[in-house]
Amino acid sequence: MKNKKLKIYSYLALITILLLSILSGCGSSSQSKTVTKEKTKKPILIEGAMPIEVKDFSKKLKNVKEEKSGTFVFYKGTIDNYPVVIAKTGKGMENAAAATAVAIEKYHPKAIINQGTAGGHDPKLHVSDIVLGKRTVNIGSFKTEDKGKNQGIDPKQWKPMDLMASEGSGSSSKSENIRYYEGDKGLLSAANSVKDKYTKGNVVEGTIGSGDIWDNEIDRIKWFHDKYGTTAEEMEGFAEAQMANAYNIPFLDIRVLSNNKTNGGKYNPNTAVPCQDYVYDVVEKYISDVKK
Ligand code: 5AD
Repeated sequence: MKNKKLKIYSYLALITILLLSILSGCGSSSQSKTVTKEKTKKPILIEGAMPIEVKDFSKKLKNVKEEKSGTFVFYKGTIDNYPVVIAKTGKGMENAAAATAVAIEKYHPKAIINQGTAGGHDPKLHVSDIVLGKRTVNIGSFKTEDKGKNQGIDPKQWKPMDLMASEGSGSSSKSENIRYYEGDKGLLSAANSVKDKYTKGNVVEGTIGSGDIWDNEIDRIKWFHDKYGTTAEEMEGFAEAQMANAYNIPFLDIRVLSNNKTNGGKYNPNTAVPCQDYVYDVVEKYISDVKK
């Protein structure tokens, strides 16, 4: 009798231990699942060419880890517990495209925002105004006219050259199209919905032209403004949009005017600082949109 009772008690104890271990096991595995889910979320990639264009933003990240690849520097961290990577690309189209491709392969971003300073092409805009790139366009890729010795040069006759046109080597009419990349609607909507938080100037949508050139000739700027519809110019946005498009990743270029030759707006690189504050608000809004 005593033996039977003892047997029943030890069975009960065994079952309790089993149940407890199953329950605690479930708990820890679901916990680790949420941790892994957080960790495997695709980050938002924020890019900037110059130190002054990324320094402030990188200070706003939590849990920052710096990583390097070639000359590119990546700051990995979080905003509102969401993964964000900031890329310091260096200046110009080549650095911009390469850094973007490296970042895409390394971090598999959900969306890409390029931000920084630009020069105004629209006389109605002033230093500190921000342009949201509804479109980006390449203003540094041309095919010249045929001209012989001593026939001079005529940049206004240069034809746009679409480097992504598949046919021919530049002679087909399709390759003379002006290629525009559209800014992503979800990013644009996030950017528009927080524009009142930016107090240093206006925030407008426009066309951002990119090329390895800083134009100071007012007639040339006007030529781009009329022919390409440019609102502002810089040296990276289109190259990054091209990479984002190649990998089918949402992209938006956000640029603050640090200068505007068309109305005498003097160069002020410090405009890059409040621009990063604004882009931070855009990122927070976008994160809350994608979390819904
Ligand atoms: N033209 C070209 N690039 C400009 N930038 C700011 N203003 C201009 C301008 N008027 C940005 C470029 C580059 C750096 C020289 O500053 O994007 O990164």
